[in-house]
Amino acid sequence: MMDKAVKIGFLGCGNVGSGVWRLLEGFGRDISHRTGLSFEVKHVLVRDMTKPREIDFPQGVLTDRVEDVIDDPEITIVLEFLGGEEPAHQWMLHALQRGKTVVTANKVAFALYWHELQKAAKETGAGLYYEAAVCGAIPIIHSLDESLQANRISRIYGIVNGTTNYILTRMSKDGSAYEDVLAEAQRLGLAEPDPASDVEGLDAAYKLSILASLAFHGRVPFDNVFVEGITRVQSEDIRCGQELGYTLKLLAIAKRDGLRVETRVHPTFIKNEHPLANISGAFNAVFLYGHACGEMMFMGRGAGDMPTASAIVSDLVRAASTNHHLYPTFENAECPAIALQKNTDWHCPFYVRMLAYDKPGVLSKIAQTFADHGVSIAAMQQKGDKLNGRVTLVFITHSASEENMQLAICKIGEEIATVESIIRVEQD
Ligand SMILES: NC(=O)c1ccc[n+]([C@@H]2O[C@H](COP(=O)([O-])OP(=O)(O)OC[C@H]3O[C@@H](n4cnc5c(N)ncnc54)[C@H](OP(=O)(O)O)[C@@H]3O)[C@@H](O)[C@H]2O)c1
Repeated sequence: MMDKAVKIGFLGCGNVGSGVWRLLEGFGRDISHRTGLSFEVKHVLVRDMTKPREIDFPQGVLTDRVEDVIDDPEITIVLEFLGGEEPAHQWMLHALQRGKTVVTANKVAFALYWHELQKAAKETGAGLYYEAAVCGAIPIIHSLDESLQANRISRIYGIVNGTTNYILTRMSKDGSAYEDVLAEAQRLGLAEPDPASDVEGLDAAYKLSILASLAFHGRVPFDNVFVEGITRVQSEDIRCGQELGYTLKLLAIAKRDGLRVETRVHPTFIKNEHPLANISGAFNAVFLYGHACGEMMFMGRGAGDMPTASAIVSDLVRAASTNHHLYPTFENAECPAIALQKNTDWHCPFYVRMLAYDKPGVLSKIAQTFADHGVSIAAMQQKGDKLNGRVTLVFITHSASEENMQLAICKIGEEIATVESIIRVEQD
């Protein structure tokens, strides 16, 4: 085995960057023994050089000048852990244009600029690696790109955001209110001080755009993903769902049928027996279906310094082991709208909770309104006692069109019932 010394540079060194430093420090010798590769971190870019840090960087390594990383001719691989859209996108592009391979953990910049970055990489022959951008330590990118390439993947269901999975798990287990669990998650460091990207589903949508593009061999831009977060989830619905045999998850769903692709992130009821129903707390999982492999599930830690570093260092070793980088191909590389059509009118069963007036004719009017829009009722339950003349009704419908369901809901007048919540159901 030929020994090869590789000089690398970090863009950023917060949680993830520090994990990568520690993993290379503690495990670099083993990697070197196995692969003949040794890595020297030549420069580490940070914003604030005066900030106290747990790592005792050797003299001259830390810098606040990005040129020290992306313009240094000795650095052949740039590891990006800055986060956010800019300047991460510009700096990765700059590095690729100079022929440097980029390894990134940044789902936002990657989902938005993947194709521009890949074009630049191809032009200079540089590599572009992004395992850590989706589901931390879970090797889902490598699996889709290589190990499952003999499959036509038709469905993906992912729990790809640990913060929201933790919140929904807690709400399900002890019936706590959303706001209380979010506050606790923030105290425990499991949710960001500004949790918007997680709880509004955007973080999951960036990841789904990447997963669907790779699995379906066609660009599925971030804007194609329907997004609804968990901020309006009520524990009463979780409880009613449990009584009907369902568990609530924030699911990232991608389906391809011919050229029609639907990609959506929203709270979803799945059957209690589904393997994803048992993914609790901050864990991530991806369940998929390929025509040759059948059903398959990946599960593991989707965040945290060391799990994320595990994916990055593995990418680093892979990148340094080859002189011939591979790039995924897309049927619609130039124009995303041409090959894959966005499907916004998907079909699924729905859970609907209403407060309905307890008087003759109300039930039949609700059923008629549903029927007028092609929605048929699979099950109905009355919950609890009458309050102020109204009772809680919970419906599960048969599979219905999203558009028809929304129209039906609008047509149910307040003199009959108010719709308190509507949650999509996956029966797979
Ligand atoms: N945290 C996780 O568990 C996790 C998991 C998977 C993927 N990721 C992704 O990994 C990336 C990094 O996450 P993180 O948690 O490590 O973030 P972080 O702790 O906030 O670290 C960001 C680092 O980037 C530096 N930085 C940011 N903007 C800069 C600028 N304009 N110029 C120079 N340096 C700049 C910061 O410098 P200072 O140190 O001086 O502030 C810091 O070192 C994100 O894309 C995130 O989505 C994170």
